[in-house]
Amino acid sequence: MSLKSIAVLTSGGDSQGMNAAVRAVVRSALYHGLDVYGVQRGFQGLLNNDIRKMDLRSVGDIIQRGGTILQTARCEEFYSPEGQAKGAENLRKMGIDGLVVIGGNGSYQGANKLNELGIKTMGIPGTIDNDIPYTDFTIGFDTAVSIVVDAVNKLRDTMTSHERSSVVEVMGRHSGYIALYAGIASGAESILVPEMPFDLEAIAARMRENFQQGKRHSIILVAEGVGKGDDIAAKITALSGIECRVTVLGHIQRGGTPTHNDRILASRLGDFAVQRLVAGDSGKACGIIRGELVATDLDVVVKAKKEFDRSLYELSLRLSQ
Ligand code: ADP
Ligand code: F6P
Repeated sequence: MSLKSIAVLTSGGDSQGMNAAVRAVVRSALYHGLDVYGVQRGFQGLLNNDIRKMDLRSVGDIIQRGGTILQTARCEEFYSPEGQAKGAENLRKMGIDGLVVIGGNGSYQGANKLNELGIKTMGIPGTIDNDIPYTDFTIGFDTAVSIVVDAVNKLRDTMTSHERSSVVEVMGRHSGYIALYAGIASGAESILVPEMPFDLEAIAARMRENFQQGKRHSIILVAEGVGKGDDIAAKITALSGIECRVTVLGHIQRGGTPTHNDRILASRLGDFAVQRLVAGDSGKACGIIRGELVATDLDVVVKAKKEFDRSLYELSLRLSQ
């Protein structure tokens, strides 16, 4: 039986580019002659029947906007089989037979459960963390990295004026990818990530030596999965004798207009998800690997863990002397 009607929702931590992905899903669905619905507030909206029909104009003038017009939520009830069954039933009652879920690893778990209940589901990787396997990048990651790089550029000026060290705590939940990419791009002297061991004494000794040789600032990026920036800064100050200031970037990394990279990634993935559904595919996580669009079984993706890019980390060690 061919697909006639799909819905789209955004779930988990929001990310810049989610609106571009929603726009692509809606416009591609309409292009293929499907009815398309937007679910408000993630899986909670499924349970509350907070579902409205979308048209071309519903997604006008949003590609440049951060956040998500469908809003997002974390929904405890959806962890239960009863909640999942209720969500599937509500979709069926509206004659909706396909669903695109834009979110992170947790949202993919929910999407997989709906697929098992007969809803033809596609996942799109939407999170700034870039911690989803079977895709090189997630929607929002590029924008979050650009925000951190811009912040470090600003910090470098004032740290140089005062000949201080700056510890910058960045997001990523348990992933070090934002710290790694932003650290390399901003020329940080040290990058601390949960995936790799590090030696604060050696870092402090190198800082002291660099300052003695005339270096006038030091930038240390700390992924939140390593620990609190304040704690790391206190240890480094004690070990190096160099004054440290701490900046916790927090949710600033989750807002603002998406970069063109994220807008294009989101547009490609949103359209790809609809094309796969129209082709009769379901239960897949969409992604991009070496520039190619791929669809991988959700069953496989939810059980996998994204590998950390050690070669890029080793590059950062070679360049940040
Ligand atoms: P993210 O998608 O960014 O990883 P969460 O982990 O908070 O965010 O998950 C978002 C939502 O996905 C949760 O609030 C819940 O409704 C749903 N979800 C997460 N994990 C599961 C699971 N194992 N089974 C069913 N639903 C889940
Ligand atoms: O998963 C995205 C993310 O921004 C993480 O990097 C961060 O740890 C978490 O969400 C913050 O969650 P909340 O927005 O619920 O405070």
